[in-house]
Amino acid sequence: MAATKPMTVPGIKARKGGTPIVSLTAYDYPTANAIDDLVDFMLVGDSLGMVVHGLPTTQGVTMDMMIMHGQAVMRGARRALVVVDMPFGSFEESRELACRNAVRLMKETGCAAVKLEGGQEMAETIRFMVERGIPVLAHVGLMPQKVAMMGGFKTQGRKSEMAIKVMADAKAVTDAGAFAAVIEGTVEPLAREITETIAIPTIGIGASPACDGQILVVNDMIGLASDYMPKFVKRYAESSDTIRAAVTAYAEDVRARRFPGPEHCFGMPQGA
Ligand code: KIV
Repeated sequence: MAATKPMTVPGIKARKGGTPIVSLTAYDYPTANAIDDLVDFMLVGDSLGMVVHGLPTTQGVTMDMMIMHGQAVMRGARRALVVVDMPFGSFEESRELACRNAVRLMKETGCAAVKLEGGQEMAETIRFMVERGIPVLAHVGLMPQKVAMMGGFKTQGRKSEMAIKVMADAKAVTDAGAFAAVIEGTVEPLAREITETIAIPTIGIGASPACDGQILVVNDMIGLASDYMPKFVKRYAESSDTIRAAVTAYAEDVRARRFPGPEHCFGMPQGA
């Protein structure tokens, strides 16, 4: 049963080891409006580049795209915390640039926090941002913005040197002050060990139930999918099929001239 008090950053952080944190991505007003009371936080993920805009990767996503979608989600959010992703190119260059762009995301959308991908190499930036009042959700393990460097979407932690790196990344972002960390595409023993080791909640995506919470790309789990569908996604609905069935029925009505006339539209009085 969802609580009614608005979710806060400290509230999410305090859920470490407690009731699992429920989160989903959201990219628009109707979705935010529909799921607001069912989730603890909504992430305006840069996955929107792929699942909403049809881009091949998240690398083409811009600050302006994140702001527009962030504003739409904020209009539908009443209780859930809203976190907006920092897109590729908006934070890596320097901690000052990261701070400036995070402040812009927060001011122009009204979101409570930002997320950025990166481990040890981003720790100094995360610390700089947190010290200046910007709550940061970290993201380690598989990092989609680095998909070209990684040679594709590959599960992390199968080899010991990779496992050591992901653990060190998780510890570094925790020490830097992140309030929680997304752990993506990571084998269960490593996700479990990280969850047992770090003091902040781990939010898994393709990283096993051992995490403190879970996140999924909403379009994937409702079956409104792009061409790429990760294997770990459980589909709870087949929305593409529902849309196709509705449009098929509509097309049949139009072709059979069974379409309602103006007397049924916009509440016009009969015979007007
Ligand atoms: O962009 C995104 O949607 C994400 C989630 C997959 C965690 O980063």
